[in-house]
Amino acid sequence: MPRNEITPLPPLAEGIGLPWDVAVDDAVGELARARATYGDTFVVESGRDRYLFTFSPTGVESFYALPEEAASKGVADYLMLRRKLPEEIFDGRRTLPGSLFRKGDVANYLVNLQAALTTTTSELGGSGTVDVFAVTRRLGHRMGLASWAGPGSAEGAEFERLVAAFDTLDGSDAFVHPDAMAAVAASGKSAEIAALAEITEVVGTALDSLDSAPDPDGQSLFARIVDAWDGEPPEVRRRGVAWDVALIHIASMSNLAAALGWALVDLVEHPAAAARVVDGDRAFTDQCTLESTRLAQRSIMGRTVLAPVEFDDGTTTYSVGPGATIATLLPLTNTSAAPGLEQWKPERWNRSRLADTSALASPTLVTAFGHGKHSCPAQPFSLAAMSMAVAHLLTTYTLEPGWSAYPRPVPAQIGGVARADTSCLLHYRSR
Ligand code: HEM
Repeated sequence: MPRNEITPLPPLAEGIGLPWDVAVDDAVGELARARATYGDTFVVESGRDRYLFTFSPTGVESFYALPEEAASKGVADYLMLRRKLPEEIFDGRRTLPGSLFRKGDVANYLVNLQAALTTTTSELGGSGTVDVFAVTRRLGHRMGLASWAGPGSAEGAEFERLVAAFDTLDGSDAFVHPDAMAAVAASGKSAEIAALAEITEVVGTALDSLDSAPDPDGQSLFARIVDAWDGEPPEVRRRGVAWDVALIHIASMSNLAAALGWALVDLVEHPAAAARVVDGDRAFTDQCTLESTRLAQRSIMGRTVLAPVEFDDGTTTYSVGPGATIATLLPLTNTSAAPGLEQWKPERWNRSRLADTSALASPTLVTAFGHGKHSCPAQPFSLAAMSMAVAHLLTTYTLEPGWSAYPRPVPAQIGGVARADTSCLLHYRSR
């Protein structure tokens, strides 16, 4: 089957490109207009890529059922992230982000989150004004680096060096600022390569500390990462450990801090709900953080076809050839697949599922953490972390919005949880 072939060919969205290839004012809006014009299944040709977008109930169900060997999420993610990350970081990784959630790991991360929250309140002091997303981002760095970047990485000068380097290397720029990727390519990724070198140096120092005072039970994630490079020559080992840590931390930066930011924004906008969080209603707090995550979703979900697949959208079965990408876009279904979904209503969730799906043509049309076998392995941890963080901040401080209108997502963003377009100030004072 020829590369990229789709038979029969669905309508081709004329004049529509994706933000990596053409300038667009509103990436999600552009695809919403294409859907309004061409229906629930259409093709976008952008740059050298061909995308089969699908939004029908059966189409989205078929999407989540695609087998990885034939239509790969891993390859789709790689093709997106390599627009930003130095190619060599993908080569030879031994501990991958998917292995972060073994038994006992989450409890360890939450202990580190509690310590990071205590440091956050001491940095904030008794009162002031901050950018919501800057606070949650720094918190995410501190919790994550304490969890997997080795001794000393979440404190003092080492922490500040790592924060600066990871903010430069940030892989999510590939989908939050897709319009900036041409400039990244033109620069030869020089800033990103320098940031990776800085991370290698700082994590190398943590490795020296571990070598001189080994972890007694060897169970920390950092110790496991180090074990995987046992017996390698010193320089190979040093780089191998640091780049495993780097890719894990980059994966953790994709969504969690941004989703926590929206959860705080929504709770500040809904004082009665915030009062229940302060009262310690943990189940309700989880519903709130899940609901904010759903509404903030901007994810493009892609599967790159590696071997010919049959794809049924409920009306037509398409033969899709290698090279094409089958895709759907969460913001086009999450808030419109049934009446009322545009509202923030935490009670719609029963644990991690919608309590009532009767108005939906398919339950797969709404999600915060994905469906099927690729759904997020970090969901229980992320919900626990977000709930713990909002509860801590709301019980420590009285919070007042510094925004006059609900913050807007970055217009060019096409993936992950929304980032706010402008600074989103929050006034706080100790209770
Ligand atoms: C609020 C926070 C988060 C949200 C909303 C979120 C969302 C998602 C979604 C929607 C998917 C499925 C994508 C698809 O099917 O194409 C996914 C997969 C994944 N997420 Fe998360 N995520 C979050 C936090 C994290 C964290 C902290 C990590 C840790 C590094 C993580 C690691 C992963 C991995 C490794 C996968 C791929 C699983 C697979 O392919 O089998 N996520 N996430």
